Amino acid sequence: MSNQMWGGRFASGPDAIMEEINASIGFDYRLAKQDIAGSKAHVAMLAKQGIVSAADAETISKGLDEVGAEIESGAFAFSRALEDIHMNVESRLAEKIGPTAGRLHTARSRNDQVAVDFRLWVRDTIDELDGQLADLQAALVEKAEKYAEAVMPGFTHLQSAQPVTFGHHLLAYVEMIARDRGRFRDARVRLNECPLGAAALAGTSFPIDRFATAQALGFDRPTANSLDSVSDRDFALETLSAAAIAATHLSRFAEEIVLWTTPQFGFIALSDKFTTGSSIMPQKRNPDAAELVRGKSGRVIGDLAGLLIVMKGLPLAYSKDMQEDKEGCFDSLQSLSLCVAAMAGMVRDMTPKLEKMKAAAGSGYSTATDLADWLVRALNLPFRQAHHVTGRIVALASQSGKELEQLTLADMQGVEPAITSEVFNVLGVEKSVRSRLSYGGTAPQNVLEQARGWKQRLASK
Ligand code: ARG
Repeated sequence: MSNQMWGGRFASGPDAIMEEINASIGFDYRLAKQDIAGSKAHVAMLAKQGIVSAADAETISKGLDEVGAEIESGAFAFSRALEDIHMNVESRLAEKIGPTAGRLHTARSRNDQVAVDFRLWVRDTIDELDGQLADLQAALVEKAEKYAEAVMPGFTHLQSAQPVTFGHHLLAYVEMIARDRGRFRDARVRLNECPLGAAALAGTSFPIDRFATAQALGFDRPTANSLDSVSDRDFALETLSAAAIAATHLSRFAEEIVLWTTPQFGFIALSDKFTTGSSIMPQKRNPDAAELVRGKSGRVIGDLAGLLIVMKGLPLAYSKDMQEDKEGCFDSLQSLSLCVAAMAGMVRDMTPKLEKMKAAAGSGYSTATDLADWLVRALNLPFRQAHHVTGRIVALASQSGKELEQLTLADMQGVEPAITSEVFNVLGVEKSVRSRLSYGGTAPQNVLEQARGWKQRLASK
């Protein structure tokens, strides 16, 4: 049997393989809610414009609500022969209300229908993600405030660099996530134009009101060019770019959690809630959630690349290749959502091991910069010379297997005779972090101010 929706000129149905490759219902069933909302807005507009009767519009709209309820309840039987969510919904509507259902598709094509559904889905998902990202920020800020004074090693090249505070380190991610949220917000602004009414590609001869449907669906305005409306997916690409960057941030943090939970680092502990055991090694406690956040970022980045590659060779307007836009997007944004939730859970769950962090912060001559800065301030040495003198003192300490604080004044004076015992005031890690008061620096006082500022900003949005 040929297709009920478009089979007029076809004598027979598709080959089984044709049906399989053509169907998108296996994944686009996720657009059901958006499809029904789009159809309801469309039919209401058709009635308002006198293109269908008010009575027919009423029947269609009620029928759509019933179909929607069936889908939501799980009672709906999706059919692969009906290809996609759009035709599944319309066909069920026809079963319920008869031939009147056929009036719904007036002045519309699946090309603008899918474009509007997909935009609505991406927009809904951006809104959900924003709330989740704000929650992750809140978790980080809370921990940062609590541990504003906790000293830990700061690294460059993963080598001990200078002491920082745990709170400061956590707030670095709060800043990154703030920019991620900004990117999603920006993408949402450009996304928020309504393609409905572009029809197949050229617009329609019916006197539709695209401004009305745009408004009914919460868009800022209708899209201005019908060809563009049905053939571009940059709203998805832009959202996936934002997702890929956000996932990259989460992945870096996840990598740190993996490092920090090793016995060798031992900076933090995760509870049983966010770790798993090994089936052979009884001592193990593995940070699987963090590893999976790191791993899933690969998929998110891959999904962006995948859609760019699908789109790059397509002439205007719609081509069926574009049906490939959805799976990666669903996968990517759902993976990101799960990662954000897992990260928020881990942040709330983690306990820093303060003694271990502090001890590590003091190793590796991490206060050498403080010593050099002291030579500049107290002895008025040019910084380059202070750097050289400090380097010689570090070498001396290293040869005798000591930390800087363990050297005697005489040891240091052997390198630079003008050094006084005052120097010991700057060699401790706590003194070091407290001195980093420059704007954006790691001093506990700064961290507390920043954390409190963030708390207010997060509460006000
Ligand atoms: N399932 C299709 C998609 O996701 C809907 C649009 C079909 N349009 C068409 N001209 N066959 O892209």
